Amino acid sequence: MNISSNLIATEQRLGANNYKPLDVVLTRGEGVHVWDTDGKRYLDCLSAYSAVNQGHCHPKILAAMVEQAGRLTLTSRAFRNDQLAYLYEELAALTGSHKILPMNSGAEAVETAIKAVRKWGYEVKGVPEGKAEIIVCANNFHGRTLSIISFSTDPDARTGFGPYTPGFRIVPFGDAEAFAAAINANTVAALIEPIQGEAGVIIPPAGYFTRVRELCTANNVTLILDEIQTGLGRTGKLLAEEHEGIEADVTLIGKALSGGFYPVSAVLSNSEVLGVLKPGQHGSTFGGNPLACAVARAALKVLTEEGMIENAETMGDYFLEGLRSIRSNIVKDVRGRGLMLAVELEPEAGGARQYCYALKDRGLLAKDTHDHTIRFAPPLIITKEQVDWAISQIEKTIT
Ligand SMILES: Cc1ncc(COP(=O)(O)O)c(C=O)c1O
Repeated sequence: MNISSNLIATEQRLGANNYKPLDVVLTRGEGVHVWDTDGKRYLDCLSAYSAVNQGHCHPKILAAMVEQAGRLTLTSRAFRNDQLAYLYEELAALTGSHKILPMNSGAEAVETAIKAVRKWGYEVKGVPEGKAEIIVCANNFHGRTLSIISFSTDPDARTGFGPYTPGFRIVPFGDAEAFAAAINANTVAALIEPIQGEAGVIIPPAGYFTRVRELCTANNVTLILDEIQTGLGRTGKLLAEEHEGIEADVTLIGKALSGGFYPVSAVLSNSEVLGVLKPGQHGSTFGGNPLACAVARAALKVLTEEGMIENAETMGDYFLEGLRSIRSNIVKDVRGRGLMLAVELEPEAGGARQYCYALKDRGLLAKDTHDHTIRFAPPLIITKEQVDWAISQIEKTIT
């Protein structure tokens, strides 16, 4: 047995079986590429679910991490550190938010927002205690904690984990009238992904978010956009809300906030919502730690200074055009925005996973989602030549 077979066998023997990865064992990454234990190079078209927007092992983020790791890593929030204020300042300048709460995983940012808007509902909006409702969308993906899976519509994510957290109302994604009908006096918030990533890169109809924004404003409902996957350049804008010409009241970011080096997430909000949280009511030992802050500061800096967001827009358009030019009778739909792209295959194609394996053999890593869809989300630094190469491999695989 070679190294990778040994490692896979050990994972299968000792690991919980909660993932079904493609059998490729990666050992090194640089830019848009990763290498397996046999030295084979791949173009990464997943970017760790959009956490590696800046490319693997970006040297400037690495340098910031190493420098900070040698100086101070963790103080807890019992004391202050000399990195957090700078991260606040830089995030506020970039996004226009007034209050920021740093956490670690994306799911923690979602949980934080749920807590904050419920408390805001009781203290500011005047909703009776215990009655707060949050509107969410069918086929959402916001993470894996108990409260979050309580409002999932995916049986795999939800079944068997009850009793569930109440207080969520599920409406179809992209249907503004259904959204309007779900609002009542106890609605404190709406929690929505600008584009549903895990559901297969589902883009809502034009005008949907404008209407949702109007309805939220008119009914004093906090609009929370989960930009954990769509944010930080992935769709060709800093935040995907910019495509819709709207502003959320609360924005959730994570993943690429660290360029893939470290779990860093944040809740960005106006003062009123996060303002309800008082000392002792929420926190995390690692949230806002100096290592995370230094990494996030560098990750944001390279994202903006190195033109990655603009590149995501131009290369995204080019990639989409390339995918659309492929003539194949197994392709049902091609869609995307920026470098968040998907090819949906016809059900007769026999499932997307076999095509992901075929792409892997050709040196391109992509991941199937929901049986029939292959998602393409390379690092935002991808070049035109690399897109051309990717398109030719995809074409050979699906024609
Ligand atoms: C839109 C969205 N929200 C939340 C999450 C959860 O993030 P994490 O896995 O860091 O908890 C994800 C992860 O894929 C996501 O795509």
